[in-house]
Amino acid sequence: PTQQYVKTEMVDRIGRIRLDRTARYNALNRTMVREIVEAMETFDRDERVTVIVLTGNGKSFSAGADIEEMLEATPISMELLDPFADWDRISRIKKPIIAGVHGFVLGGGFELALACDLIYADPATQFGFPEVGLGVMPGAGGTQRLTKCIGRTRALEWLFTGDRMKAEEAERLGIINRVTADVEATVLAMAERLSNQPSMALRLIKDAANKAVDLSLQDGMEHERRNFYLLFATADQTEGMQAFLEKRSPIFNQQ
Ligand code: HXC
Repeated sequence: PTQQYVKTEMVDRIGRIRLDRTARYNALNRTMVREIVEAMETFDRDERVTVIVLTGNGKSFSAGADIEEMLEATPISMELLDPFADWDRISRIKKPIIAGVHGFVLGGGFELALACDLIYADPATQFGFPEVGLGVMPGAGGTQRLTKCIGRTRALEWLFTGDRMKAEEAERLGIINRVTADVEATVLAMAERLSNQPSMALRLIKDAANKAVDLSLQDGMEHERRNFYLLFATADQTEGMQAFLEKRSPIFNQQ
């Protein structure tokens, strides 16, 4: 399918997605969200891909949902279009997604970054939920993900004010993994590292960590255990353990 608002490419075992609506700071209209999700799902199904990288072209990662498009929305039109169904599909991507962000990361753009697994940011990045200033609120997980990440009291200050948070602060609060002067190099280096890790272990680790956010400790631990057992069906488990005993480096993902 032709993509209007994203660019995709596969390099080694890395599936790259670049937001590409630069004239609008990569503001997310519905078509663009659909294209992002479909690109992620395509890479998720592709056995040659181990890890997905999401970055934004132009001056910013993304300034959020397309306000022009949203102006026309009504409760009924949204109920019928169900725009968040596409966002839910992002939560179901099983491979690790690394976001490299810069410039403005606002509203839906911030929610998109928070839906990824690892986030690296340029030092000048500004994060925020400005929705309150438009008379609305985040709708694609912002209130939930930010609150689960930094706690209710701290999250509410950002959500109530719409203030922009600097990259350093986002790092301090644990919202992102790291501020880095060269986001592109950092995300690609991390993607390269992960692409050499055992892919089934990566996806089951991600799955278990996601369960930790949703489930009670006991339910989460039971889920973890199932995933642990499952990994003993992989060639990478044999390879990893044999390599250790033979005092050599393992080579994972051998077909
Ligand atoms: C539509 C947008 C846009 C957006 C920027 N543009 N953000 N268009 N939706 N979210 C457009 C501008 O209209 C402008 O178009 C062009 O991009 C450049 O933006 P400027 O404002 O001229 O640039 P600048 O002065 O540098 O300011 C950058 C900015 C500002 C701080 C990012 O554009 C801004 O505040 N944008 C809106 C941010 C926001 O409120 N986001 C939350 C959206 S609500 P023209 O045609 O004039 O060149 C949301 C809800 C999520 O995300 C719900 C779940 C999906």
